[in-house]
Amino acid sequence: MKPVHHILLMHSIILLLLSAPTHAFDIDNGKALHDENCVRCHDSSMYTRKDRKTKDYASLRERVVQCEIMTELIWFEEEIDDVTAYLNHAFFHFNMEK
Ligand code: HEC
Repeated sequence: MKPVHHILLMHSIILLLLSAPTHAFDIDNGKALHDENCVRCHDSSMYTRKDRKTKDYASLRERVVQCEIMTELIWFEEEIDDVTAYLNHAFFHFNMEK
């Protein structure tokens, strides 16, 4: 690939990223990240247990951050958001606006 093509490609990727609405979380990416990193200590029954501790979207995201730190991952904010959105979509069903 010639350098100029490289620059054009980079440019279109950046444009693509910039044009994405800020709260369109990538649930598929969240699932991939989750399945790769988060099933070591607990499976998804943790998310549906009767006495689960998360009560809203904010506390779910907070819990994802805590587990992410415990797992010694260094995720970007976007990755935390994607995983939180995936878990919410698949298991928790909290209102994301709150
Ligand atoms: C080192 C072990 C470990 C790993 C790895 C881990 N978790 Fe956890 N996770 C726990 C424990 C222990 C709890 C229960 C904490 C409690 O009951 O207070 C928990 C609870 C949770 C809950 C809360 C469920 C509820 O009660 O509502 C969520 C959500 C969660 N984990 C997400 C994740 C995600 C996302 C990852 C990957 C980044 C992950 N966990 C990786 C140990 C782990």
